[in-house]
Amino acid sequence: MKKSLWALALLSLLAGGCHRDMWLQPKAKVNRESDFFADGLSSRPNVPGTVATEDVGLTRPVRTGYDSNGKLVREIPMAVTKELIARGKERYQIFCTHCHGAVGDGEGMIAQRGLTLAQPVASYHTDRLRELPDGHIFDVITNGFGTMYPFSDRLPDPNDRWAIVAYIRTLQYSQFAPASSLPADMRAKVDNPPPLPSQQKPEGKHGKGEDHSAGGAH
Ligand code: HEC
Repeated sequence: MKKSLWALALLSLLAGGCHRDMWLQPKAKVNRESDFFADGLSSRPNVPGTVATEDVGLTRPVRTGYDSNGKLVREIPMAVTKELIARGKERYQIFCTHCHGAVGDGEGMIAQRGLTLAQPVASYHTDRLRELPDGHIFDVITNGFGTMYPFSDRLPDPNDRWAIVAYIRTLQYSQFAPASSLPADMRAKVDNPPPLPSQQKPEGKHGKGEDHSAGGAH
């Protein structure tokens, strides 16, 4: 019995992990030199006449977030519709919520209990981020910012990135709207808020949830 176990251990040592031949196989790495093709490059040039398809017909501000003078655009360079915001919400919840949180306060699950980042996840609810041009947020999504990685590969359509910008502006407004902009019935609730649970009378607090065995005995 023991012998066969040893044999098994030896066999797994010999059989496992032998992938050096695949590491060392002849292959072309991107942008490396190669003597296989006459021009000495491993990467092949585009076929003559190739056109990029994804960004065709989009203006520079839509593609890059910058205007023709090289300045960040102040406002989203397209009509901000309910559909655009809804699309942005969907994309935001897929790509951003886990770090930035559902309301953009920087308290997503990753920020709460995931990796420790050199720089904490930003909250969108600061004066600086409220005042920065829309093009800045687009640029952060496209190219990354500090410790945050870029998203242009995951969100290749610039329209989707602008949709997220629109949704972030919506989130900011949701946490920073002037009370005067509320309809009358909501305004009344803000002026006379119901008491918080902590302000309610503490009656019945003792003996209820604290001692289950006593509660069960009665
Ligand atoms: C892996 C976690 C993570 C994800 C996912 C993430 N972010 Fe961030 N984000 C960060 C961190 C960390 C910072 C702060 C970076 C710094 O200051 O170095 C940040 C900063 C920002 C800022 C503030 C930039 C500034 O000027 O201060 C914006 C805006 C932002 N993120 C938008 C987004 C959007 C939109 C998405 C989704 C498309 C997203 N982030 C996804 C971690 C993340």
